[in-house]
Amino acid sequence: TGLITLDLGYKNTGATISEITYLDGDKGELFYRGYPIEQIAEKSNFSEVMYLLLHGNLPNKDQFSTFENGIKKYNFVADEMKRLVDVFPRSAHPMGVLSSLTSALTAFNPKSVDVSSKEDLDHAAEMLIAKFSHLCAWTYRKKMGLPINHGDNSLNYVENFYKMVFRVPNKEFELDPTVVNALDKLLILHADHEQNCSTSTVRMVGSAHTGLFASVSAGIGALWGPLHGGANQAVIEMLEMIEKDGGDVAKYVDKAKNKEDNFRLMGFGHRVYKNFDPRAKIIKKAADDIFEALGIEDKALDIARQLEKVALEDEYFIERKLYPNVDFYSGIIYRALGIPTEMFTVMFALGRLPGWISQWKEMRLHNDPIGRPRQVYQGATPRDYMEMNQR
Ligand code: CMC
Repeated sequence: TGLITLDLGYKNTGATISEITYLDGDKGELFYRGYPIEQIAEKSNFSEVMYLLLHGNLPNKDQFSTFENGIKKYNFVADEMKRLVDVFPRSAHPMGVLSSLTSALTAFNPKSVDVSSKEDLDHAAEMLIAKFSHLCAWTYRKKMGLPINHGDNSLNYVENFYKMVFRVPNKEFELDPTVVNALDKLLILHADHEQNCSTSTVRMVGSAHTGLFASVSAGIGALWGPLHGGANQAVIEMLEMIEKDGGDVAKYVDKAKNKEDNFRLMGFGHRVYKNFDPRAKIIKKAADDIFEALGIEDKALDIARQLEKVALEDEYFIERKLYPNVDFYSGIIYRALGIPTEMFTVMFALGRLPGWISQWKEMRLHNDPIGRPRQVYQGATPRDYMEMNQR
């Protein structure tokens, strides 16, 4: 009890002490374990970044192969889980399917909940990292009405995922290095972002000592929303709407300024960045490179570029320091790689997984107390119960 500080949306409330990710919103800078995101995105790969986030340092050769082998040990999912996938309609949103399957994983791996030592935490982490890539791939196969592919331990994590998603029966499968590199980069850029909504959710659920899989399942629900990870789907839908409506970007920038229209420029603005989101800068450049390498054109990319230009020159967006965020260009790349719109947020979830797990692990190792915010009560004053016939 005592004086309660009200901070709607936790704009200025620190919920924990963390050593994982640092971001400076005014400067537009982001660091994983001290390493600038620009260097990590250019030089590293997703598996190495997962290790970095989980263990605190870049791995040497031995550490890395032990880590990769630890994950490969679990590169399968119980057959019974496939029956769960079968019962969903094809129209089901992949994020709902993913969240359900992730929670259901606990039933088939009950030991993942017993985490009394650091080794147990790391063990649960490796298990989830391996199995989650299957669940993400399954949501794609479900959406497309295709049979499930098994994991291939001769490949690295991203290649294995790519094969599980795209391999077609009775056809020779080939990895396209442009696609693998693009996936690696996108997953790295989404890997962690300190105490965002889904990560805070994972930590909050985990603070009750709920198991890792159920905590992450809750995080998937938080990520699904259009103000958070669901923005990547919403951006493409917005760009398609603008294109259908004749491509007049200025009209939509005006619409976003008019509060009565209840319309926001999706992929714009950020709670912490009051400058360019450094991830958006890297993704924009990656989009240019990938479109050139794959030799494809997409009208949505032109509209996105025009929209960005008009918004960045507009007084409303300048005053409020609203810049493109990570979700603005990512969907355009996913689409170029052949990933359907409803799957975009699943891709975000796969990228964010090591962040969620690292934060959950840190919370348990730091022995953070159960999360339990207070409130300012403004409801009815005490009154007596009235029988229904007297109301
Ligand atoms: N379009 C138009 N106006 C906006 C936008 C936007 N995208 N974003 C913020 N504003 C305005 C908002 O109306 C408010 O104006 P005023 O001061 O006149 O009331 C001002 O800017 C501050 O906005 P806020 O809603 O108080 O800021 P917030 O920190 O609570 O919200 C946000 C941050 C990301 C939810 C918000 O910017 C937004 O809704 N953006 C669109 C959705 C989006 O792209 N989300 C992805 C975020 S980044 C990746 C991730 O988290 O997954």
